[in-house]
Amino acid sequence: MIQRTLVLIKPEGVKNALVGKILTRFEDAGLKIVGVKMLWADEEKAGQHYTQDIADKHGERVRNSLLEYIQEGPIIAMVIEGVEAIATVRKIVGPTYPNEAAPGTIRGDFCHVSRDYANKKKIPVRNMIHASANEKDAKNEIPIWFSESDLHTYKTSHDMINLS
Ligand code: PPS
Repeated sequence: MIQRTLVLIKPEGVKNALVGKILTRFEDAGLKIVGVKMLWADEEKAGQHYTQDIADKHGERVRNSLLEYIQEGPIIAMVIEGVEAIATVRKIVGPTYPNEAAPGTIRGDFCHVSRDYANKKKIPVRNMIHASANEKDAKNEIPIWFSESDLHTYKTSHDMINLS
């Protein structure tokens, strides 16, 4: 099934000049970027993305630290499309906590901190990138950052060779 998913390269991905390397991981897998933009998230957008559900699950402190983290600098937002793209993108990104992410994943290659360390220090888990966790999240998250007219339908050479 062809799916669309939201990816955010968080501020340290931009500051550390990792945007090209990260984009390449998705393109190399044959996934299609159907929307991409650089923006500096404000409190409203950050709050729409990291909803009260996060506070209910992880606590108010964690939600507040995520809100601060995502507003530290410009981010790259993108919508990626492909066969089972939600799960495939999460596999390329690696698990939420970078210390659990295998080498070869984005989080495993570009960061390493653990949840325990972040909790002890009361700092955000700097995991470099966000990717929608499931279909419901993708459906809710994409319209926060993109309007329909920002998203494009086109064929890549990968589509023509592998998907038709
Ligand atoms: S996930 O990846 O959405 O399925 O994971 P989830 O457990 O629901 O986490 C949602 C976001 O909360 C972040 N998170 C934390 N940040 C800081 N400290 C702690 N302890 C912590 N626990 C969870 C996690 O990184 C998720 O944000 P994103 O942007 O997806 O990484």
